[in-house]
Amino acid sequence: MDAIDLLLRRRSAKTLAEPGPDDGALELLLQSAARAPDHGRLRPWRFIIIRAAARARFGDLLAAQLRRARPASSPEALERERLKAFRAPMIIAVAAVKDPHSTVPMAEQMLSAGAAAENILLAARALGFNGMWKTGGAAYDEEVKRALGLEPADALVAFLYLGTEPAGTDEPALRQDWRERVSNWSG
Ligand SMILES: Cc1cc2nc3c(=O)[nH]c(=O)nc-3n(C[C@H](O)[C@H](O)[C@H](O)COP(=O)(O)O)c2cc1C
Repeated sequence: MDAIDLLLRRRSAKTLAEPGPDDGALELLLQSAARAPDHGRLRPWRFIIIRAAARARFGDLLAAQLRRARPASSPEALERERLKAFRAPMIIAVAAVKDPHSTVPMAEQMLSAGAAAENILLAARALGFNGMWKTGGAAYDEEVKRALGLEPADALVAFLYLGTEPAGTDEPALRQDWRERVSNWSG
């Protein structure tokens, strides 16, 4: 797939299965991430890889967060939350560890981490995988951040679920709604 084709066809996966990226593919994903635009060369991004059995512990974190946020959640809802960790063979949590002393605004440091996350998704597609970008309450939860080795002030910008789409997954038509979002400014 050439680069423009890749961009024009980008979409999230609806379902993902094995195989996930192997170590070689993962390295390419992370190298692609590290090419993200980065004001001030702060490299604010952190990538936390969650795979195999660690997904069960990540699922526990998701369920515990839901219980904290909504104590009345039913056991079924908690189980559904826990199982989200098994939506894909691999999850990459993308965080921005922001430097509060930098002259680069914090928002720009987060945007850089977001760009790194998008690079991962695009690189995954180029390698024959696909992914989904999720956040949810867990991304804003201090306990989840701590469990992943982050500080409360750090921003979890993405949980990238990565794997292989089942054969026969529909390719939706190209989107045409971009024109209404564009204007030509002439001063
Ligand atoms: C920062 C960010 C957070 C997101 N969080 C969620 C989420 O928690 N749950 C969800 O269903 N979609 C989430 N999305 C949207 C999906 O990743 C996806 O882009 C959207 O469903 C549209 O599908 P498409 O990517 O195929 O166009 C998020 C997107 C971004 C950029």
